[in-house]
Amino acid sequence: MTLRLKQGAAATRVLGIGSTQPDRVVTNDDLSKIMDTNDQWIRDRVGIIERRFADKDELLVDMAVKAGTSALADAGVQPSEVDTVIVPNCTMPSPIPNAAAQVADRLGIKRAGAFDLNAACAGFCYALGVASDLIRAGSSGKVLVIGAEKLTDWVDPVDRANAIIFADGAGAAVVGPAEEPGIGPVAWGSAGDLVDTIYTRDHRYLTQEGQSVFRWATTQIAPIALKALELAGLQPSDVDVLVPHQANLRIVDAIAKKLRVNGAREDMVVADDIKYSGNTSSASIPMALDHMRAKGSVKAGDIVLAIGFGAGLSYAGQAFICP
Ligand code: UT7
Repeated sequence: MTLRLKQGAAATRVLGIGSTQPDRVVTNDDLSKIMDTNDQWIRDRVGIIERRFADKDELLVDMAVKAGTSALADAGVQPSEVDTVIVPNCTMPSPIPNAAAQVADRLGIKRAGAFDLNAACAGFCYALGVASDLIRAGSSGKVLVIGAEKLTDWVDPVDRANAIIFADGAGAAVVGPAEEPGIGPVAWGSAGDLVDTIYTRDHRYLTQEGQSVFRWATTQIAPIALKALELAGLQPSDVDVLVPHQANLRIVDAIAKKLRVNGAREDMVVADDIKYSGNTSSASIPMALDHMRAKGSVKAGDIVLAIGFGAGLSYAGQAFICP
């Protein structure tokens, strides 16, 4: 007796992207009025100029719905064509219920397979890899991936080590079948021995050992990005756009520098969305790409290299073609 398997698509691609941010802009000067910090320190050490904070009544799920709506419109895909919704996030108000089922329902995606995926700031790249593989395995037709975070719920508002960094927002991608590969294999992994470097416990505020995570990110993440290129059969010189998770502009610059030492072009566009968005964890990569596309610094057909990293510690990256 053999079981039947479904026949999946030969390949996948990103069909559209979208993002949203809360209206409320919070500058470094605003923060310096409520904690011992200053604009110069934040710009020099992290690269942030301003960020967006959600109001109390704007929930993670609300932002996910907005970003999902804009990605569906960008892709020209109807909710009825989507059968799976994945919401990578690590900041739901409580573990139950998840975000994805509510988001699917509010988007009019009926009976969707719907689940959250927690790989913290690596969540979007993990979920993009899962979405692509679901389609290739025949488990899904089109998948909506929405990285959404309300980090301000989980950060002590006067903790200068974290409140200056983290922010709120959502970014989404619609993934569908394709004849030619448009999404490369994911390179992912974890370093659970470093779990104590970023955590929340018992619903308390986020704590991180900034310097340890900084050292890890600046030494261990570029090789994963290179691995993702190798898996996709690409060279560093093929990359048009590098979108690292927007954790710290100095980490972004360090990753870009290592890729250039390995052959990436000087004219490779490097995401610096953290300047105006802060660190939005699993939302940061699709949000950065959406903002860059809106500004015209990237265009459809560009080879994007995305690389996420964060609590877990977890990391994941892949190359894909910009929609
Ligand atoms: O997204 C998830 C993954 N997370 C990351 O990738 C974060 C990685 N880590 C980082 O980005 C950086 O470590 C931080 C941005 C978190 C901190 O920057 P840093 O350059 O590592 O600063 P530090 O913690 O070593 O602090 C340096 C100095 C200290 O003063 P002393 O001891 O040298 O006198 C701090 O007390 O800066 C002080 N400081 C501040 N000063 C003004 C720390 N925070 C602030 C602040 N404003 N907000």
